Amino acid sequence: MAIGGNERAAKAALEWLSENEAASVQRLIDWLSIPSISTDPAYKVEVKRAAVWCAEQLKEAGFKEVEVCATGESGSAGGEGHPIVLAHSPGSADYKGPHVLFYGHYDVQPVDPIELWESPPFQPVIREAEKDGPGRRIVARGAVDDKGQVMMFLEALRAVRAATDKVGGGVKFTVMIEGEEESGSVNLDRFVREKRAALKDCDVCLISDTGMLARGKPAITYGVRGLAYTEVTLHGQNQDLHSGMWGGRVMNPNLAMAKVLSRLHDDQNRVTIPGFYDKVVALSPDERKAWDALKFDQGEALKKIGLPAASDWGEKGFSPLEREWARPTAEINGIWGGYTGPGAKTVIPSHSNAKVSFRLVADQDPEEITRKFFDWFTKTAAEVAPGFRAECKDLHGGLGVTLPTDSVHLQAARRAISRACGTEPALIKTGGSIPVAGLLKRELGISTIFMGFGLDDDRVHSPNEKFELECFRMGCKSHAMFMDELTRL
Ligand code: BES
Ligand code: MN
Ligand code: MN
Repeated sequence: MAIGGNERAAKAALEWLSENEAASVQRLIDWLSIPSISTDPAYKVEVKRAAVWCAEQLKEAGFKEVEVCATGESGSAGGEGHPIVLAHSPGSADYKGPHVLFYGHYDVQPVDPIELWESPPFQPVIREAEKDGPGRRIVARGAVDDKGQVMMFLEALRAVRAATDKVGGGVKFTVMIEGEEESGSVNLDRFVREKRAALKDCDVCLISDTGMLARGKPAITYGVRGLAYTEVTLHGQNQDLHSGMWGGRVMNPNLAMAKVLSRLHDDQNRVTIPGFYDKVVALSPDERKAWDALKFDQGEALKKIGLPAASDWGEKGFSPLEREWARPTAEINGIWGGYTGPGAKTVIPSHSNAKVSFRLVADQDPEEITRKFFDWFTKTAAEVAPGFRAECKDLHGGLGVTLPTDSVHLQAARRAISRACGTEPALIKTGGSIPVAGLLKRELGISTIFMGFGLDDDRVHSPNEKFELECFRMGCKSHAMFMDELTRL
């Protein structure tokens, strides 16, 4: 018994994947060559091209219903958005397993700082394995986040179709691949509500956009953090001033900003905003024990990014994994104001700016946290710099989610990964955010399985982003085996 009830078909799918790997990688290279940067309006046409390319793949995998859906609306909150690829395959007549919603994103982060790329970000190259370093890999923006990982699913679809002659191996699939994940999925809420009828029939969501525990150690991720992203400005006097004439007579807005932001954390490195921790769900002793057993080596991780063990930093009373996976944080993502060009300019700027964001855990609500931060910021600014005006902008947010680890779907994914990789997947969480998962849970009650194959040194969002071919291979096989496991449910 296997795909369509025969073990031979499962084997054939795996064989198809190894025999056709060169073609699979070439298709990925084609997709990676399209600069689908969603945050930058200059790439709008390219983003659309990446969506159409993806829709074409689904058609080639046998999907009959494939749509490239426009999103947003000029005038709506999200503005005119990037398209979402929506596809459906009804599954074979004898299929009794769950209706699976596959989600991924085809948009990518901007490439800056461009001068640090060793090869152009949208001219993918294969680099050979290095001794004591990364394995054979494909280097390009989007290699692992997320085109390379969506590609594992698309290639698995091809493989199971070749092996069984059924689309998706007979699994009932809805596929939703968006183009705004990296810019906050601002049009997704509305899209999900509009397509409610089509989506609410889904039993479980599958997302391939996370990482493994380590090289050769696959994992299933059962939780992501939420996010609240803001921009704040402190306006001082109504003009830039000569710092000689005015220095010593007015507060400098950059200093005011630094003073305010320096109060974000207390001496325990806890966030000081009143009510920030009110809805945080405490870690269970079982979870703490299970994570300790993963033997995560923070010293080693710090070394890889050029820091000594003494640089370990975070909320007191929690281990590094606990801080990343189960505790909320506040980060200053950017801070600017006044003169930042070459050479010197003696100026007191009229205003100072910062991008401040928060990683959230269950049951924190992004909107509530944003509101509390704005109140805190305005009040603290008034103390630090009387007469200054605080301006606060909500850029975007997303819910975090923690999922049950005992569901039949997750168990099926576990078996699939074990069969494909020859080793049991670890159960992990991640500190990153994938807003759609919380949205699907809240709007439609759908749980997600995160089955990702990235590594922590893949340089996600950075220059020289890579995806190792061994990870790609494990991912393709795991997705094919998951389709097989689904037909057995
Ligand atoms: N794939 C990432 C999330 C991720 C990163 C999961 C690392 C696991 C490990 C996703 O594309 C991403 O970058 N999300 C953004 C959020 C978004 C709202 C901009 C993030 O986490 O910053
Ligand atoms: Mn991603
Ligand atoms: Mn990303």
